[in-house]
Amino acid sequence: MRFSNDLVLITGATGHVGSCTLLHLLEAGFNVRAAVRSPAKMASVLSRPQIKALNPGPRLTFTIVPDISVLGAYDNAVEGVTHIIHIASPLASGDNRIPAEQHDEHFIRPAVSGTLNLLEAANLVGTVRRITITSSFVALVPLDELEGHRIRPANRPVTPNDRIAFNPGPYHSSFEAYAASKVAALHHAEAWIERERPAFDVVHLHPGFVLGRNDMATSYTEAMAGTNSVVLALLLGKRFGPFAGTTVHAEDVARAHILSLDLSVPGNQSYILSQDARWNDARQIARKHFSHAIRSNLLVMGGSVKTIPLPVDASLTEEAFGFKFRSYEEQVKSTVEHFLQLRLRRKSVLKRLTEADQVAIGVPQAQDLMMGRTTWAC
Ligand SMILES: NC(=O)c1ccc[n+]([C@@H]2O[C@H](COP(=O)([O-])OP(=O)(O)OC[C@H]3O[C@@H](n4cnc5c(N)ncnc54)[C@H](OP(=O)(O)O)[C@@H]3O)[C@@H](O)[C@H]2O)c1
Repeated sequence: MRFSNDLVLITGATGHVGSCTLLHLLEAGFNVRAAVRSPAKMASVLSRPQIKALNPGPRLTFTIVPDISVLGAYDNAVEGVTHIIHIASPLASGDNRIPAEQHDEHFIRPAVSGTLNLLEAANLVGTVRRITITSSFVALVPLDELEGHRIRPANRPVTPNDRIAFNPGPYHSSFEAYAASKVAALHHAEAWIERERPAFDVVHLHPGFVLGRNDMATSYTEAMAGTNSVVLALLLGKRFGPFAGTTVHAEDVARAHILSLDLSVPGNQSYILSQDARWNDARQIARKHFSHAIRSNLLVMGGSVKTIPLPVDASLTEEAFGFKFRSYEEQVKSTVEHFLQLRLRRKSVLKRLTEADQVAIGVPQAQDLMMGRTTWAC
């Protein structure tokens, strides 16, 4: 699948999904060019201990694309590129509520123009064989089902070939605007492919809520950002939601991005990355794996997130990519483990634990973290 002259352009490598995918690309031996918004963003990627541990040298280069919405934004970035992984797109989460008047500018424009600019650039350069675009399950599911106003029957699961109409707004929430941005990006990309019939093809990946260690987070407050915040806030005693019961491990998302570059995986096709989850099961999982943290009040059991049942058929993905999705238990474990490691960087928190609990919680690992020694796994 991989040739020494392969060069993968990745966008979004400064985020949760992208940083994990970048590590997997480097680990698989690819030459990688990461498009980031600024030199400071490049420095933040290079500063990660996981990247340092891999010591990629000239196999990892960067290109600065300050604004992905500007016409021709990626024209220089694609020079000599054979594959593209396009992850960059604004995410909606509890910590970034965008005012209604900015929904279009913040969500829709970069999602659509960023995708189209990349497709145009790839077409012009002529060396690209495949583009993988990170879409979302929200691009396949009507909003009333996503928000639980209508329950999707178990015998009519979401499939990768489902398509829904674009809602032009106005939007009542950042989540609704985000969902519309993913619908619009998918529609525009498919229409572009149909119209231009380029030499490359496109794989659309549709993850459920992505959970698992986020290696761009350097503090426990940063670990609380993005979709991990649903599990973590629940385990810190918050009651909120509801959210659809479809989740996926960040490791599986990264793995699927790498496997999707293989041309034996059929292109111009959508693949769902998801398995069923009941959000509140996180409490049992925490009791099983992190009882020491509960005893020390680092985790609190009174929280609740209601689950909206959403049947999803991801069997095509398992068939085409040849792997089984990791369980919700593994997703929660990875998210919470990392959160606790970062939390324990504070001496005042460390002091609250008995010696036995410090061992159980993996304090040596926390100390490794403090000294900048950690494993690269995301
Ligand atoms: N997290 C989930 O549960 C989930 C589920 C399904 C699909 N997805 C998709 O996965 C992708 C990444 O999500 P994530 O969870 O990794 O989010 P994230 O941690 O917020 O990362 C988002 C990435 O996109 C970049 N980005 C955002 N807005 C941008 C803009 N206007 N111009 C240029 N770059 C921009 C960010 O760059 P900066 O660092 O410069 O801001 C960052 O690299 C998105 O396409 C999202 O829709 C995520």
